[in-house]
Amino acid sequence: SRTLEQVLADGIRDIPDYPQAGVVFKDITPLLADPTGFGQVVQALAAAGQDDDGNPVVDKVVGIEARGFILAAPVALALGAGFVPVRKKGKLPAATYEESYSLEYGEATIEVHQDAFAPGDRVLVIDDVLATGGTLEACLRLIRRCEAEVVGTAVLLELSFLPWRERLASERVTSLLSV
Ligand code: PRP
Ligand code: MG
Repeated sequence: SRTLEQVLADGIRDIPDYPQAGVVFKDITPLLADPTGFGQVVQALAAAGQDDDGNPVVDKVVGIEARGFILAAPVALALGAGFVPVRKKGKLPAATYEESYSLEYGEATIEVHQDAFAPGDRVLVIDDVLATGGTLEACLRLIRRCEAEVVGTAVLLELSFLPWRERLASERVTSLLSV
């Protein structure tokens, strides 16, 4: 069987000049299409929601739309936890909280249902990539407004040349790969 390191090397490819010239996009679709590799990645992310004996320590797993959903839902099942979607504005039907964050050009807003958590729920947040950290930071604000407790956050990939670490200095962040 392959190491996690090998699985990630096999499954993440560079797409130059996407979505714009000069940017190298990290494409995880080959990894998602690799059933044993996908399983290893889900187990590795789920470890961020387990204690040293491998017992789950979270009640809910949050996935951030859209690519975070793909990873967070199987992590939730692996931990025996519930899944909570954090969605882009306008997609959730019941009463929501919303938080905005800045993009290179303009602003984006994400939302969560106000009743998505019970007070004190322990939460693991999953996304695919950390770049500026703006998305994850806004997501953590949403969870805390719901009076739930963030136990940790885990991502597949961190872009270490971007300043997410300063922004999320006080948070527990696990990343499977740093590029
Ligand atoms: C991408 C990526 C992360 C976020 C990271 O999402 O999936 O969620 O950007 O960037 P940041 O750390 O600078 O906030 P995006 O909304 O672009 O696309 P998606 O809907 O395909 O997940
Ligand atoms: Mg995303």
